[in-house]
Amino acid sequence: MSLVQIESLTRKFGNLTAVNDVSFAIEKGEMVGLLGPNGAGKSTIIDIIVGLRRPTSGRVFVHGLEPSKNGLEVRRAIGYVPQQAAIFEDLTVRENLSLAAEMYRIPRFKHRVVEIIKEFELEEKAGKLAGTLSGGQKRRLNFALGSIPDSQLIILDEPTVGLDPSRRMEAWGLVRRLHEGGKAVLLTTHYMEEADVLCSRILLMDRGKIVAQGSPQELKSTLSDELVVEYTFAEAPPRELVQRLTALPDVAGANRNELSLKVTLKSRALPQVQQLVHESKLLIRSSSEKGVTLNDVFRHYTGRELRKKGE
Ligand SMILES: Nc1ncnc2c1ncn2[C@@H]1O[C@H](COP(=O)(O)OP(=O)(O)O)[C@@H](O)[C@H]1O
Ligand SMILES: [Mg+2]
Repeated sequence: MSLVQIESLTRKFGNLTAVNDVSFAIEKGEMVGLLGPNGAGKSTIIDIIVGLRRPTSGRVFVHGLEPSKNGLEVRRAIGYVPQQAAIFEDLTVRENLSLAAEMYRIPRFKHRVVEIIKEFELEEKAGKLAGTLSGGQKRRLNFALGSIPDSQLIILDEPTVGLDPSRRMEAWGLVRRLHEGGKAVLLTTHYMEEADVLCSRILLMDRGKIVAQGSPQELKSTLSDELVVEYTFAEAPPRELVQRLTALPDVAGANRNELSLKVTLKSRALPQVQQLVHESKLLIRSSSEKGVTLNDVFRHYTGRELRKKGE
């Protein structure tokens, strides 16, 4: 039995279809990413899985149980780390954890709280008010709260949104630790790098639909034929070179800009491109190859960018 089974899930808000006929499953030990721009419908799916919202149509099963009918069992089967930390600032770290453990009705909950404090290295902070923790410590507490039920599945909604790069790496470490501990992880993100480095399977979402899915490698290899090679020369490349390159059957384009030349090609055309550049006798200062990114994959399926520039 799959940990999560979603069948033709649709959720409407008035006239807006936030989730549109989505189906997928999550198996034990997987690390799955829901990747898509803001508004794609990721959080709505999560909210329905954890039982915070109901589907308009379609069905959701967690361990074969429906969230709307078996609320407590489903909540106990999922560790849920919401985007906004659900922390009571004027309770201590230990009190926050105890409260969560009681809400989940964890048997021997005091014992579980001690375990979790140790696991997330919060011993020194256990007696301190949660409001006095640093940002990183609060995030650890938020992850610890989600780990209280000791479930096979943990769901993280945008675990690194708004973090600077080093804090983001720290959070990735926490996510990996949960996964290495044997849990299946479902995370949502609009950062392609995050899905790329963390997830074994990505569900690419846009406007309520899954537009493509597969491992990061599989997704990229659907267009992996495309390659961009950029050269910088010691002098401006002649127009004739550009003409000869663009005349090649597998070259999509060649653009000059002062000393540089950018060639977009199918990978099989690379030797011919290199040959022509070599024959031009220009001195090459640098050259770089850029393969496909998940943003390219997203653009391929939707005609739009995963993230707007500067976001
Ligand atoms: N409670 C709500 N009422 C009305 N519209 C909503 C509500 N929640 C979400 N939406 C809309 O549904 C769409 C999907 O939202 P959401 O699931 O939060 O996307 P994501 O998590 O991918 O950013 C968005 O257009 C959002 O504005
Ligand atoms: Mg969201």
